[in-house]
Amino acid sequence: MTDVVLQLLNVESAYGPIKAIRGVSLKVRQGEIATVLGSNGAGKTTILKTISGIIDPRKGSIEFRGQNITAKDPAFIVQQGLSHVPEGREVFPLLSVRDNLLMGAYTRKDRDGVARDIETVYSYFPILQERATQDAGLLSGGQQQMLAISRAIMAAPQLILLDEPSLGLSPKLTKEIFEIVVRINRERGTTILLVEQNANMALNASDYGYVLENGRIVMEDTCERLREKEDIKEFYLGLKDDGVRGERRWKKKKTWR
Ligand SMILES: Nc1ncnc2c1ncn2[C@@H]1O[C@H](COP(=O)(O)OP(=O)(O)OP(=O)(O)O)[C@@H](O)[C@H]1O
Ligand SMILES: [Mg+2]
Repeated sequence: MTDVVLQLLNVESAYGPIKAIRGVSLKVRQGEIATVLGSNGAGKTTILKTISGIIDPRKGSIEFRGQNITAKDPAFIVQQGLSHVPEGREVFPLLSVRDNLLMGAYTRKDRDGVARDIETVYSYFPILQERATQDAGLLSGGQQQMLAISRAIMAAPQLILLDEPSLGLSPKLTKEIFEIVVRINRERGTTILLVEQNANMALNASDYGYVLENGRIVMEDTCERLREKEDIKEFYLGLKDDGVRGERRWKKKKTWR
């Protein structure tokens, strides 16, 4: 029996009268990459914000490594070993790339470990080393995504929550980022919960998947089996659908990359 790192039981979250997630239950097991797939507005970001304490749920409970973290302070939750890479990255634009990385490690006392982890993220994303002294705000969208993921690694977390890493990125860059996400998981043993619209990428990278529609989990299975399901193929993996969406997103952001 594998260890469950994170467990949500019947979690409901709302924005005023708008119920965004309606009784979500899910498990993330030690060492795996789990994914929640869903289209715009399904509630993916809300799930991650509720886990990391940014939003308090109306109902339900969240357990992380055996501890109840429901509605706890975000800073406390980070200290327990959970890092969140938010949608849209949110790097500190006026701090250098290196200082952004150090901000990720601010609660750590092991200076040698921090220095080692900076070298590790530079090996994953060499461009960050080249730009180490440059303001993070000057990085392209894709590079900011690399920095946001790297900053999460710098906290040496047990679990990383990753909100749509593919958003606004070209298919090529998306593939590169996913390859690194898998390496982080395999090489560092970091458990990952990833939410995505890009089902193709997410299902290939992940071990276990949930499908979220209108704030409810409507399906769950190993990613191997999900990839074979007809309705998943139709709604999420249709080549036309995926290709068009990726291309459109890329074009939209292309001007500032
Ligand atoms: N701050 C907010 N105030 C009011 N409603 C919100 C707020 N944030 C999200 N919502 C609503 O909650 C629902 C879920 O939103 P959420 O951002 O979790 O979806 P998502 O799956 O992450 O979508 P996307 O793929 O577009 O990022 C949507 O109906 C959205 O309009
Ligand atoms: Mg979102």
